[in-house]
Amino acid sequence: MHRQKDVNPVYRDLSQPVEKRVDDLLARMTIEEKIGQMCQYSGFNEKHEALLRKGRVGSFLNVTGVENTNKVQKIAVEQSRLGIPLIFGLDVIHGYKTIFPIPLGLASTWDPDAVKKAASIAAKEAASEGTHWTFAPMVDIARDPRWGRIAEGAGEDPYLGSVMAKALVEGFQGANLSHLDTVVACPKHYVAYGGAEGGRDYNTVDVSERVLREVYLPPFKAAVVDGGAGTVMSAFNDLNGIPASANRYTLTNILREEWGFEGFVVSDWNAVGELMSHGIAGTPAEAAKEAVEAGVDMDMCGDIYQKTLDQLVREGKVSEETVDEAVRRILRIKFKLGLFDNPFISPERAGEVILCKEHLDAALELARKSIVLLKNEGNLLPLKTNLDSIAVIGPLADDHEAPLGPWACLGDLENVVTVLEGVKAKVSSNTKVLYAKGCEIEGTGTEGFEEAAEKAKAAEVAIVVVGENRDMSGEAASRSSLDLPGVQEELVKTVLDTGTPVVEVLMNGRPLSISWSAEHVPAILEAWFPGIQAGYAVADVVFGEYNPGGKLPVTFPRTVGQVPIYYNHKNTGRPPSSERFTSRYLDLPYTPLFPFGHGLSYTQFEYSNLRIEPASMKVDGAIKISLDVKNVGDRKGDEVVQLYLRDVVASVTRPVQELKGFKRVTFEPGEKKTVTFTVSSRDLAFVGRDLKWIVEPGTFKVMIGSSSQDIRLTGSFEVEPS
Ligand code: NOJ
Repeated sequence: MHRQKDVNPVYRDLSQPVEKRVDDLLARMTIEEKIGQMCQYSGFNEKHEALLRKGRVGSFLNVTGVENTNKVQKIAVEQSRLGIPLIFGLDVIHGYKTIFPIPLGLASTWDPDAVKKAASIAAKEAASEGTHWTFAPMVDIARDPRWGRIAEGAGEDPYLGSVMAKALVEGFQGANLSHLDTVVACPKHYVAYGGAEGGRDYNTVDVSERVLREVYLPPFKAAVVDGGAGTVMSAFNDLNGIPASANRYTLTNILREEWGFEGFVVSDWNAVGELMSHGIAGTPAEAAKEAVEAGVDMDMCGDIYQKTLDQLVREGKVSEETVDEAVRRILRIKFKLGLFDNPFISPERAGEVILCKEHLDAALELARKSIVLLKNEGNLLPLKTNLDSIAVIGPLADDHEAPLGPWACLGDLENVVTVLEGVKAKVSSNTKVLYAKGCEIEGTGTEGFEEAAEKAKAAEVAIVVVGENRDMSGEAASRSSLDLPGVQEELVKTVLDTGTPVVEVLMNGRPLSISWSAEHVPAILEAWFPGIQAGYAVADVVFGEYNPGGKLPVTFPRTVGQVPIYYNHKNTGRPPSSERFTSRYLDLPYTPLFPFGHGLSYTQFEYSNLRIEPASMKVDGAIKISLDVKNVGDRKGDEVVQLYLRDVVASVTRPVQELKGFKRVTFEPGEKKTVTFTVSSRDLAFVGRDLKWIVEPGTFKVMIGSSSQDIRLTGSFEVEPS
């Protein structure tokens, strides 16, 4: 019956509601076609083409460009029986061709509006060439900088991570998925992937239910519930004994039943097949059954659903309703994207938007905002542009590749402005710019040190650009050391020994244990991987055209031995102190090198006049916290005002401080502004002894400051029973 030709089927009728179109189409599909929708492949080859003609592919990733996407889409739409369009996915992580700072850098802006704009630009460029779906944002909380994927997320804090997650999803998806400038978002990797033991990628994760709910789940909830993300990616990792891609509790009970998620879940790359390596499935068929019944709707590159699901259904081992539900979710997103109505891309759009001036300006703005001034002894920075001479030294000083960072999508080296180029563009025509590479990022060669020292000696100031190469963070890029790789620290020492004042610029995808530099080098800038406008952004900051206002979204440890170290830790029964029998190290301070939220400015801000109104609230009420902040220096600048709370006595142990609000505000010299936060019960809730969210009456301590450790104002309020 359902194989009959119908010239004007309901599913093709734009005026019909999405659910009706989905149901109509589903009723026409064979089991093979249904399963086809649940299969995704990377790239396009003859084997894929044959499957596609039979209606047995739902999606491709890594098929890019107007010509390719249109060509492959044409086969789906015109040569398969039902003409169901493909959804093309791609890792558009921090830009498509206009590359922005890596996500950790974006988080350092503490500016969700700017981050949202970056995502919307990435979406616009990607969509203009036929991409419909980005595998982003990565919203995994990471408390272990050995884990290379820390570069792809917003750092260690669930609150900041949630704000960024929502901003990124909203930026990618825009107001309406059917708009041609938007792509559907895919928060990943669900869930707790960042909790990998030892910081080793793909490794086992074992976290308590409380930590899962309080730390790892909130950014996903923000992305899905507040941001409206259309898809979610299930992770590779084993979570408390049940792999995340076979975890019905997280994928169905929490995601769908608790949060009401109606989109679809795609597995990470072959995560369904890897259920066999995890040892919870003995055969591909068992793996497919585990994954689909847990709630994984699409199999990324595993070919497991393709090969096993129809037989499982025929044998009654997986119900057809389970398959129908998965297909429904996938089709729903395809309809919402408008793919049935508008499957092809016109070639003109890309030329108008890709790398256009507006996008390059935004990339510069985001890069400037993401830079964190870690140290500035004696106000060495900013430098004057009319110096007689300046040395630019280091393996990253003129590197076109590293600033792109990991997952730079279609970013092109040729579009990257290096620090050397940025400095040259900024200094006066009389300033001599001397350059020496000094050494490689990795390796032991010190032959370049002599030249570096000579150039530094001949200059008034030396900028030394050191850090990691782009492959040292991102996927499968865990490190057991957080030190500067190779002989870069020796290079910094060599340059410093010349007596020329040194500005150290770091480019890296994770916090680095730069204890030696922090002690000896007068000025240090954390630039992360700033994207294609790297050099201009760094130069703007170095020469004071832009006053840095970024803050760390993650703690910098003194050495890797302190890991995991994060600001929102528990107090313990024996809080660390100089006393022996407290929670400390014998051979190392327990404090971080640079704390969460840290970042200096070329101006200073004075905090005053904390008001908490009213002085108490009901458990389901709200309270207003306001304060005055004044720029008491003589330069315009941004301050990120940070609000931390502590539940002083509760039925379960609570962190010593938790970020619950922040605002990045721009101040003219001498300008004073009132900053206001509203705290509601949602900000006070925690997972109680019965593992349910609860707000308990009692005293809450208020801490407001310029970093998690630079607390300027404190107060408290009471929470009363309702
Ligand atoms: C594997 C990575 O873990 C994931 O983040 C990415 O989106 C997919 N590969 C697709 O490239």
